[in-house]
Amino acid sequence: MISGATGVLGVIGHPVAHSASPAMHNAALQADGLDFVYVAFCVPPERATAVGDSMRALAIAGLNVTVPHKQAVMAGLDEIAAEAQAIGAVNTIANRDGYLTGYNTDAHGIAASLRQDGGLERLPPRVVLLGAGGAARAILYALLQAPEVEEITLQNRTASRAEALAAELDPAATRTRVIAAGDPEPLRRAGLLINATSVGMAPAADASPVADPSVFRAGQVVYDTVYRPRRTLLLQQAEAAGARAVGGLGMLLHQGARAYEIWTGTSAPVAVMRRALEAAVGP
Ligand code: ATR
Repeated sequence: MISGATGVLGVIGHPVAHSASPAMHNAALQADGLDFVYVAFCVPPERATAVGDSMRALAIAGLNVTVPHKQAVMAGLDEIAAEAQAIGAVNTIANRDGYLTGYNTDAHGIAASLRQDGGLERLPPRVVLLGAGGAARAILYALLQAPEVEEITLQNRTASRAEALAAELDPAATRTRVIAAGDPEPLRRAGLLINATSVGMAPAADASPVADPSVFRAGQVVYDTVYRPRRTLLLQQAEAAGARAVGGLGMLLHQGARAYEIWTGTSAPVAVMRRALEAAVGP
């Protein structure tokens, strides 16, 4: 029941109406009996710099931040946690009596999902990462945190964006290299392929970021950050070749669970959140 004392959490994005985060977080808040409500705010890009002051004025307790605001909101915060600083993007803001701290829980999200959904207690030595946008940024950071990963090959439609991302996160280029999009060789050798492009996302679900599915084989893990549809064309290709195919719902779940823990100080009811997310996203 919403009362005068109910606290407000939410997500800002543009667009944001499709977000599954309200369903996931409200289910968790209800399960834990916490007097908060989680809503979606559609914030146009030119308003992103006002988000910090708006949070203070309205005493909004916490926000998730999604496309296209993850970098723009940083300037309005009082503190950026070390991990968010290193990644160069914020996806979670906590408001503690008007003092705003920015966090990034996306790297935790992919790491936890690779472990739990991908069955990868240890990551394989060779990884291919497709994309160079916001999602790829947090994933590259997470991969570089895993010492067992020896070689990360970045491929992106716009090669210059991949070059810039690699130079920022792995300036000595000790483990990251960029090669032309579409070159199948690194995919053949990789133990793990992660798609962090938006290719394959509904409504353009008849597309795959991998042109030649003969690169897939048993023993590989193929992770698609796209989760609408749940079973993308890429995952179908991977599965048909005997690879382990994992959709991106778990990354969304675990970044949300970590954000919830930052805001509430209590451990997240992950099973409740997963069920709500699955129901909200659908098939
Ligand atoms: P996000 O924050 O979700 O990662 P983004 O920053 O817009 O979103 O990044 C989208 C990624 O998908 C980029 O790597 C983009 O490639 P470009 O850097 O060349 O734009 C990739 N992408 C989007 N549409 C694509 C397409 N049709 N073919 C290949 N790559 C595509």
